[in-house]
Amino acid sequence: MIRIKYMLVIACGILFADFAHADPEADRQALVNYYQNRFPNVELQEYANGLYAFDENAREQWLEMEDFPPYEIAIEEGEEYFNTPFANGKGYADCFESGGIGIRQNYPHFNAALGEVVTLELAINQCRKANAEEALPYLEGELVAISAYMSFTSRGNMIDVQIQDDDPRALAAYEAGKQFYYSRRGQLNFACSNCHAQSAGSSLRADRLSATLGQATHWPVYRSKWGDVGTLHKRFRECNEQVRARPLEAQSKEFRNLEYFLSYMSNGLELNGPASRR
Ligand code: HEC
Repeated sequence: MIRIKYMLVIACGILFADFAHADPEADRQALVNYYQNRFPNVELQEYANGLYAFDENAREQWLEMEDFPPYEIAIEEGEEYFNTPFANGKGYADCFESGGIGIRQNYPHFNAALGEVVTLELAINQCRKANAEEALPYLEGELVAISAYMSFTSRGNMIDVQIQDDDPRALAAYEAGKQFYYSRRGQLNFACSNCHAQSAGSSLRADRLSATLGQATHWPVYRSKWGDVGTLHKRFRECNEQVRARPLEAQSKEFRNLEYFLSYMSNGLELNGPASRR
């Protein structure tokens, strides 16, 4: 018994020490160094293009697809939804800084009043609820189009996710997202990092695997496989399913924390959404 207690104290000590030293900037820098050592010919900004940073052939097809961007309709529809007033006469522009234009880089952020990570998609529904409108579904349709339009107005802005160092809850949310990325799960027992860090640039069936850096820069994405635009959380769900893990809900706390970590890793890269992928 005493021994168990003693071991628990040591385990907690280690956990606490880890937490006390959690340093997102050191994590990000370590990842940048890791990829730059492995792929010295890939420029940092290129990681925003996902697997196309590594695969010449796929890149050519992608550039052709970008001549007639398949997400253009979503941007147009999103603009229309964005500018359609709510029943009370107000609109999305009233909920966001700068009328909601060019602000995607402010998301996700840790909201101190809520004590949780707020993503852009969550904020869109918060805006609706604050104006007595029903929340929209997260995985497809109107909300994804609005997100696409808001991304489009933010293209070229630099990702600069903040983790308030005077709020331990913000750091804890980041840590939870990081743990998620590095934990093995599902019947196949794979962590996100097994595929997107260790195996980045390698082939998995028909695909090359994108790197962790840049995975958060370009959402929502039109995917040929989906035949539609979808959000980052839709992709999280699909990667969960690939390892035969039960996918979590879009905008669940776990996925928002994961987005917080993943977006921090893309700090210093330019927003380039919406985008297209196979
Ligand atoms: C078994 C390997 C595997 C695992 C494990 C895996 N993924 Fe993926 N993931 C893929 C493949 C394949 C693709 C499509 C090719 C690409 O874009 O990397 C992909 C694509 C993605 C993309 C889209 C990249 C882009 O440029 O649009 C994101 C984001 C992503 N994965 C996140 C995750 C997260 C988060 C986890 C952990 C929950 C995870 N993945 C686990 C295989 C995996």
